[in-house]
Amino acid sequence: MTPTPAHLNPHPPRTHTCGELRPEHAGQTVTLEGWVDTRRNLGGLVFLDLRDRHGLTQVVLSPQDNEDAYALAETLRSEYVVSVQGVAQPREQAGHRGLATDGVEVRAHSLVLLNTAEPLPFSVSSHEERNVGAGDDLRMRYRYLDLRRPELANNLVLRHKLYGITRRHFDRHGFLEIETPVLMKSTPEGARDFLVPSRVHPGKFYALPQSPQTYKQILMVAGLDRYVQITKCFRDEDLRADRQPEFTQIDVEISFAREEMIYALIEELMASLWRELKGVELELPFPRMRYDEAMSRYGSDKPDLRFELEITDLTDAFAGSGFRPFEDAADGGRVLGLVAPGAGDWGRGQLDRLDKDVVRGRLKAGGLFHFRLPAAGGEPVSSVKADALPAEFVQKAVEAAGAKAGEAVFVLAGKAPKIYGQMGDLRLHLGHELGLIPNPGGEREAKASATPWRFLWVTEFPLLEYDDDAGRYFAMHHPFTSPRPEDLATLASDPGAARARAYDLVLNGSEVGGGSIRIHDRAVQSTMFDLLGIGETEQQRRFGFLLDAFRYGAPPHGGIALGLDRLVMLLAGASSLRDVIAFPKTQSAQEPMVASPDEVDAKQLEDLHIRTVMPAPKG
Ligand code: AMO
Repeated sequence: MTPTPAHLNPHPPRTHTCGELRPEHAGQTVTLEGWVDTRRNLGGLVFLDLRDRHGLTQVVLSPQDNEDAYALAETLRSEYVVSVQGVAQPREQAGHRGLATDGVEVRAHSLVLLNTAEPLPFSVSSHEERNVGAGDDLRMRYRYLDLRRPELANNLVLRHKLYGITRRHFDRHGFLEIETPVLMKSTPEGARDFLVPSRVHPGKFYALPQSPQTYKQILMVAGLDRYVQITKCFRDEDLRADRQPEFTQIDVEISFAREEMIYALIEELMASLWRELKGVELELPFPRMRYDEAMSRYGSDKPDLRFELEITDLTDAFAGSGFRPFEDAADGGRVLGLVAPGAGDWGRGQLDRLDKDVVRGRLKAGGLFHFRLPAAGGEPVSSVKADALPAEFVQKAVEAAGAKAGEAVFVLAGKAPKIYGQMGDLRLHLGHELGLIPNPGGEREAKASATPWRFLWVTEFPLLEYDDDAGRYFAMHHPFTSPRPEDLATLASDPGAARARAYDLVLNGSEVGGGSIRIHDRAVQSTMFDLLGIGETEQQRRFGFLLDAFRYGAPPHGGIALGLDRLVMLLAGASSLRDVIAFPKTQSAQEPMVASPDEVDAKQLEDLHIRTVMPAPKG
């Protein structure tokens, strides 16, 4: 059957989408256009499920109504594109598919084939288990097919709505959306830059922005007062489920800002998003926690507060025990414990796996100690022999940790601050293993209502962190972040102890935003660069424009950037950023559909004054 080109389609344009009809449309003549999701031949009738991104509607064709249409319908295959004209009627045996269109069907009197489709590389039909056997690469290569799945399409709808709510929010608060260049020069956000060679200036490169940080500060110097931009950022870093090399920020900067203004502005935005997109009323204001408290209680600067499982410091409880790993740790280190409910009766296999695969394997920690309290009661069972660690210390530690029958105390020992991070990772692992965290792969709506949305502001970050390998300080947020005024003196004497006017917004263990009050004083900015080992000449070359701008009346200012993709991922209940970006990159930073990155013509390279040096073949 040759398809009818769309412009020759004798039907009027579609009157409804495939998600629009309801029983009250019964009796109306309608035209639907869409993809054949499934076809069933049953009792002399053909049933089609017609699909577009709005939904799925059942269409019935009978030889009595139109013999040609019926004959054509019998030949239709999945993903053929058709136009159907007919009369809406109540569905006699309404299906139980949970669709808004369940109670209605279209009795077709005319059918036009608009296009055929070859057999798909994987199924997108709502009736089959979608993507069975389809690996990620295949799905990414045929992204336009994967996007036909309502799960993915709905995420893009959600994302679209989020743009609108966000823009309205900032407009209400007097912000201007201002675009900043994509071809700029390197700014230090901590990742590697993507570079773009200049044709006109041989040997020179633009850098794609890791964020518009310096531009938005300059806009404040320009007096533009309140800036917002939904903007692409580019960072050449190792990818994870919550990291893409190009991602989108809701980027904000405010003149004469105070921390409280920024918290209130962002909390109100979150409340609007959750209200309009999830029908959830968030409790405001969000709680706050200092960085050092987050690290000592949860071993993370982005604690997941959906479950308790707090770290207890057992260093004192083991003092004088004579047990080397704990005594050694006490000298400049800590002995930390976590009380795991339900782990009191864990068997050998389970404990060994936790030790080998997780603690030594993934966390790269020295080893796991445990003290189990069987549910049936009795003495704690120690992973350390009694002659190495006397029972009285085990008892003391179990009491200090507050463990009860049926629970286990898991203990790691090592140098701070590393040991806190490892304990934080163990806490997250146990949260999953013990079923304390709602499973992100779970059923969408059920999960959304069961998930408490645990927002948190993490505050008072250290200004700098020392890198042993590099032998110097790095800015914990970025070099434009202001130290707390009371810590300015400390900056000279003990830079590592100075705290920053920086804050992160955390949601369910995910960092969804970060910002700071900035340095607006040229001298302080210069001191900061000095501390970071950026010398006078280098300062001028890389940031001269900012230091110059600070000469001409820079107002105090501050801001924040929210990770838009991460927000959508959490709102959608997705487990990867890839599910909320139309054309994302794979783990290896490729885009299989268009096959990027790709080689270019020799002529293009020549124009750009570039010669590639290929790595030597292996072997
Ligand atoms: P920061 O580097 O903390 O701050 O970034 C802000 C937020 O952007 C998101 N994010 C990412 N999302 C996806 N993939 C990535 N690779 C990625 N990297 C960061 C996170 C993060 O919280 N200029 C400063 C902001 C400021 O100070 O105003 C900045 O970019 O959710």
